[in-house]
Amino acid sequence: MKVMAFNGSPRKTKWNTATMLQTALEGAAAAGAETELVNLYSLNFKGCASCFSCKRLDRKAVGVCALKDDLRPILERVREADALLLGTPVYYGAETACTRAFLERLQFPYLNYTDYSNSHFPRRIPTGLIYTMNVPAEMIPTLGYETGFERTRANLARHFGSCELLTANFTTQYDDYSKYEANAKAEDKAAYREAHFADDCRKARELGARLATGKVAA
Ligand SMILES: Cc1cc2nc3c(=O)[nH]c(=O)nc-3n(C[C@H](O)[C@H](O)[C@H](O)COP(=O)(O)O)c2cc1C
Repeated sequence: MKVMAFNGSPRKTKWNTATMLQTALEGAAAAGAETELVNLYSLNFKGCASCFSCKRLDRKAVGVCALKDDLRPILERVREADALLLGTPVYYGAETACTRAFLERLQFPYLNYTDYSNSHFPRRIPTGLIYTMNVPAEMIPTLGYETGFERTRANLARHFGSCELLTANFTTQYDDYSKYEANAKAEDKAAYREAHFADDCRKARELGARLATGKVAA
């Protein structure tokens, strides 16, 4: 059982998305899974080139992206994975650009153009999707983020099998709030993190364990 996780934050360690993913993978490992964490920002790749090689009727292999870049060996390992977990900060209400490029490359080769409901991914596997963001949870509906989150969640579920969504809100953005412009008070941020981030990480750990055992909600 192999769980592959992907960090769509440019901050590769210590920060919110990386911490949630690392904690989720600890949960998966404790449940017996082999784990791998891929930092997308360490890779040289672009989004889908719209070459449609993956849709050609005379293609040699189904579900394979023709682009030869740093993502190619990663996508080959995805084919063998038993669960996938994607984490991204929210940038302008959506996934980071790097995450979106990855999602195009991850999913489009498996999109069955003659039957959208019948993915070319060879198995049905669980996936997870983690968003970390500055806004408090109660502002998500007001800002209309839900539609985009749900679209991405549903796409992952359609291509791979199931997808469970997790969010961490009002995240700490920098170490020293006195040195940066800020739309929140340092003490409010610190108090919120103290009250919530451990619980967010607990949920991530439990998600990791569910991914490792295949017990994720559709
Ligand atoms: C370019 C940029 C755009 C952002 N846009 C949003 C946004 O639209 N909504 C939001 O809630 N947070 C936004 N944020 C804050 C991040 O989503 C938040 O701090 C996140 O937890 C950072 O994740 P990281 O610590 O793993 O890098 C933005 C941050 C950056 C750098």
